[in-house]
Amino acid sequence: TIYADSEQASVAVAQQIAALVRQRAAEGRMCVLGLATGSTPTRLYEELVRLHQQEGLSFRNVISFNLDEYYPMAPDSLQSYVRFMREYLFDHLDIQPENIHIPDGTVPQEQVAEFCRRYEEQIRAAGGIDLQVLGIGRTGHIGFNEPGSGATSRTRLITLDHITRTDAASDFYGEENVPRRAITMGVGTILEARHIVLLAWGEGKAAVVKRMVEGDPTDSVPATYLQQHPHVQVVLDEAASAEL
Ligand code: GLP
Repeated sequence: TIYADSEQASVAVAQQIAALVRQRAAEGRMCVLGLATGSTPTRLYEELVRLHQQEGLSFRNVISFNLDEYYPMAPDSLQSYVRFMREYLFDHLDIQPENIHIPDGTVPQEQVAEFCRRYEEQIRAAGGIDLQVLGIGRTGHIGFNEPGSGATSRTRLITLDHITRTDAASDFYGEENVPRRAITMGVGTILEARHIVLLAWGEGKAAVVKRMVEGDPTDSVPATYLQQHPHVQVVLDEAASAEL
């Protein structure tokens, strides 16, 4: 779906998420959301907060799983995704803290594999992800699944691509400060979500959006594997769709 701008697109996706959360609540069921970070979903999160504060949308029946976190990363660090999620979303909602899951950037390295295994187990125990929100990196990554990530990859420690670290440089006051690694849900983990909504805004994403939508599925552009999912929505603004 191509919207005139990211504002309209974000509001529409927020409505869609709100409808799902409300529908689940009416059925007395939990709603499991997969959430992304980055600049792309910030307006969406702001709108969800508005729906909570002004239109009574409750998140008490929501369980969330975030895609990724830098490694290593302290949760109170300026650049941590824990902090990002609290600032943009969780601190302003009635989601129950025990229902929030974000990969832990403080796990000792020898325990990371076990942590990742448990993260997957927690997703399964919650009943799987109902709706996964995704952004896309210029390398074609979803989550932090950099080029080389296969369609069946699982939650794991990954080395960040040079382009990704360049793109994150301003957040870290210099590329040399950007962590070299991250913990990310795998492509296979993401593909198990029942419904996926990928968002991309701006001309800077136009080239990778074209490769994702029109290229053959390949691990050199992991987002192309979304083509194999039965229920994906790609939500763009005009600029991000310019090369389609
Ligand atoms: C980071 C995140 C991704 C996100 C991507 C795009 O690398 N790990 O989940 O999709 O950046 O970022 P932005 O939305 O700021 O363009």
